[in-house]
Amino acid sequence: MSYSGNIYVMNWTRKIQRNEECWCGSGKKYKHCHLSADNQLSALGNKGYIIPPRSLIKSPEDIDGIKKSCALTKSILDELNTIIKPGITTNEINDWVHKKTLENNATPAPLNYKGFPKSICTSINEVVCHGIPSEYILKDGDIINVDVTCILNGYYGDSCRMYEVGTISDSAKELIKVTKECLNLSIENIKPYTSINTIGDTIHNHAKKHGYGVVHMFGGHGIGKKFHEEPFVYHCKRREKLMVMMPGMVFTIEPMINEKSADCIILDDDWTAITKDRKLSAQWEHTILITDTGAEILT
Ligand code: MF3
Ligand code: CO
Ligand code: CO
Repeated sequence: MSYSGNIYVMNWTRKIQRNEECWCGSGKKYKHCHLSADNQLSALGNKGYIIPPRSLIKSPEDIDGIKKSCALTKSILDELNTIIKPGITTNEINDWVHKKTLENNATPAPLNYKGFPKSICTSINEVVCHGIPSEYILKDGDIINVDVTCILNGYYGDSCRMYEVGTISDSAKELIKVTKECLNLSIENIKPYTSINTIGDTIHNHAKKHGYGVVHMFGGHGIGKKFHEEPFVYHCKRREKLMVMMPGMVFTIEPMINEKSADCIILDDDWTAITKDRKLSAQWEHTILITDTGAEILT
């Protein structure tokens, strides 16, 4: 779905007088609250950028709920550092995360999501994303991505990391490191009231320096009370003008970077995405909140 200039006019330029209460519910006068932000937005809208609908601006209560869910997701990923080692199966990792999630009064979002059969995604070596936990036994030298999404009190927290199994090759180490840098640099470069194009530009530029391919089949996503919502967050450069980032928006950035070609294929299970050339792929993901000055990492 995309947003036209017309929707922009309908959603944002409802006439609020300077001394009226702001539309955001802060209780402040419009002139002391969102007036200048709305003016900046309307200038960007006139330049052709997509203005986020107000439904994507989270309330303080929603932000609090998302933060708690993200904190749980983060703590689970932290603990996996001590659990992932040669000899463990991806089913065992799945079951451990499942149990841990329930113990914390949350549920694992992937389970039964559009028919996904497990509670986490485990993507090993040439698997780009959406790998399904199985009886596969992790072996020395494997690299594995574990993607965890908790639903806590109705709020989603989504994050993934790479884990090294035993001793891995220097080239695998480098791919993991650069992919993490792509994510972190893209977050550091975020400024509110600029477009989401910057994210893909930053990731592209950093990955290309190392000769890597940026996967374009999948992107990050808005998140909150739903797993996937607007905006679609491209990790690659785009010609068209994308959505403007506004304080209160929450979305993920989750670059998948391939050692060589960016091309992927989906296996017959309809989920597992692998590199077409069977070379390695890495991914890191954070859920972030756009703030008045930049972005806050919630996971
Ligand atoms: N956690 C993944 C993401 O980052 C989505 C997994 S969908 C599933 O968006 F069904 F495969 F779990
Ligand atoms: Co995600
Ligand atoms: Co995820």
